[in-house]
Amino acid sequence: MLVSATEMLKKAKAGHYAVGQFNINNLEWTKSILLTAQELNSPVILGVSEGAGKYMCGYKTVVGMVNGMLEELNITVPVALHLDHGSYEGAKKCIEAGFSSIMFDGSHYPIEENIEKTKELVATCNKLGLSLEAEVGAIGGEEDGVVGMGECADPDECKRVADLGVDMLAAGIGNIHGKYPANWKGLSFETLDSIQKLTGQMPLVLHGGTGIPEDMIKKAISLGVAKINVNTECQLSFADATRKYIEAGKDLEGKGFDPRKLLAPGAEAIKATVKEKMELFGSVGKAND
Ligand code: 13P
Repeated sequence: MLVSATEMLKKAKAGHYAVGQFNINNLEWTKSILLTAQELNSPVILGVSEGAGKYMCGYKTVVGMVNGMLEELNITVPVALHLDHGSYEGAKKCIEAGFSSIMFDGSHYPIEENIEKTKELVATCNKLGLSLEAEVGAIGGEEDGVVGMGECADPDECKRVADLGVDMLAAGIGNIHGKYPANWKGLSFETLDSIQKLTGQMPLVLHGGTGIPEDMIKKAISLGVAKINVNTECQLSFADATRKYIEAGKDLEGKGFDPRKLLAPGAEAIKATVKEKMELFGSVGKAND
């Protein structure tokens, strides 16, 4: 059964580790992530962006697929199904479809509007027992070929949003989605430290987990990060393994063209990436804490 992310993140914050959010794109992704979480006895959050939701034929399809896998694969570790960077409308749709956790990204609105909309969703999610993530300070990333640098959130604004009763808070600290450019200045630990001092026990979320050096990940966890989002790195691992399979001509040997064979190396590569991240984040063995 899907669970909200509230309990797992409270435990992670108190235990000084982070739970990984791994974004899903299809059945292979979902299966690889769930099997790895179960094997490592780790809690896990499956992230679904609005684009990926559309790609997978809508949120109801995603909920059906994930619930089916939890049952058929005998997954017993805590699993949350989480909307990633949701719009206000997207959040409402996922709540209806049966997601157990929602991110409302109001970071592009003026702060008062972000607060108003977040407040409304806090009330809805609380009533239904779902967890809610809010965002302050936009996370940078590539758009139309241009890599935008991540903003640093205003700690006072973070405190105002945290006080609305959200379950986790994504705050920009110079992090960006996708690969980091060569001239990236790194995470702003000064900003993270000020945010954590003002928001206390609130689990903080680090987006753009792909390509952040290990020492920075560990330091971020020590400063209150309890959830780390990874998407691009699984995509790169999948693409790389699939390329090797094709370039080695394996699809031309026997029934190597069968999708169950063709997609297998990519699925195994996702498992390896997820394992590596869970070990780094410290969530291995924490499912029954
Ligand atoms: P990456 O694609 O950089 O790993 O970021 C993932 C993310 O933050 C999803 O919200």
